[in-house]
Amino acid sequence: MNLAKPPRASFAQLRSFEAVARLGGITRAAEALHLTQPTVSTQLRELRESTGVDLLAPAGRGVQLTDAGRALLETVTRMFDQWNEFEESLADMRGLVRGSLRIAGVTTTEYFLAQWLKPFLRTYPGIEVDMVIDNRDAVIRRLEREQEDLAVMMMPPAHLALHSIAVMDNPLCLIGAADHPWANRKTTALKHLGGVDLLMREAGSGTRQATLEFLAQHRLAPRIRMTLGSNEAIKHAVAAGLGLAVLSRHAIAKDPALDGLSVLRMAGLPIQRHWRVVWRQNRRLPRVATVFMEFLQRQLSLAPPG
Ligand code: PGA
Repeated sequence: MNLAKPPRASFAQLRSFEAVARLGGITRAAEALHLTQPTVSTQLRELRESTGVDLLAPAGRGVQLTDAGRALLETVTRMFDQWNEFEESLADMRGLVRGSLRIAGVTTTEYFLAQWLKPFLRTYPGIEVDMVIDNRDAVIRRLEREQEDLAVMMMPPAHLALHSIAVMDNPLCLIGAADHPWANRKTTALKHLGGVDLLMREAGSGTRQATLEFLAQHRLAPRIRMTLGSNEAIKHAVAAGLGLAVLSRHAIAKDPALDGLSVLRMAGLPIQRHWRVVWRQNRRLPRVATVFMEFLQRQLSLAPPG
């Protein structure tokens, strides 16, 4: 592995040298840098020792550059330019980016979007977030009307040309009440799912659609006993023993018993899906949205968009 070799000269020595070369004398350089003349002289002597060549020659009451000194001045100027560029990019990262990020998420994203946003907002104090949480159909309508810069969802619609990056696993689990008879079983055969009462999210929900696709694929037809409009309402109804449901693992506490629930183990489940961040291909992403995506990719170590 090739490691960058650190220079023997220090930053302070180079800064003094650059000031002396630019201003034509030690006195003026010392003044400009708020240093004493002996300090500047010492730094120049050390620099001469570490390079092994004369960089400055006396000229009248001041100094002038030797050939080696001119070459060093060019190098130092390039280094300082690069350093300034780096400082500007830091400023860009640290709050000079301003504006509002418009982001929509399907309902389950409300359980983790705040965790994504917390370090982002700390890093970019100039950015505000305008966030909408709704079901899949509603989020798709917002994308159609270009009301959002970014959307986070599980199943992007096929009819819109979208950039899409998979950001995180989204296992959809079968849940029952904590005291459900299957709760302590190692596994239950999938065919038994056909005989249960199932609680479903409303029409327009991606969770509902993914569940229905799974049931159709396995030719299972449980009785849809109740339709409920939110993940939380489903969790309460399942905990009360009204039936089973399929929900994202992200909607359930790490310890499901805290919500009065259990994740039931069944062959073929959970349904393995992914969270995706999507945006319209026909729109140039606003700077704040690009900054957010770059940040998220660094945080989650994702591959760049394909
Ligand atoms: P939803 O979310 O059930 O809230 O619509 C799931 C999804 O579409 O990703």
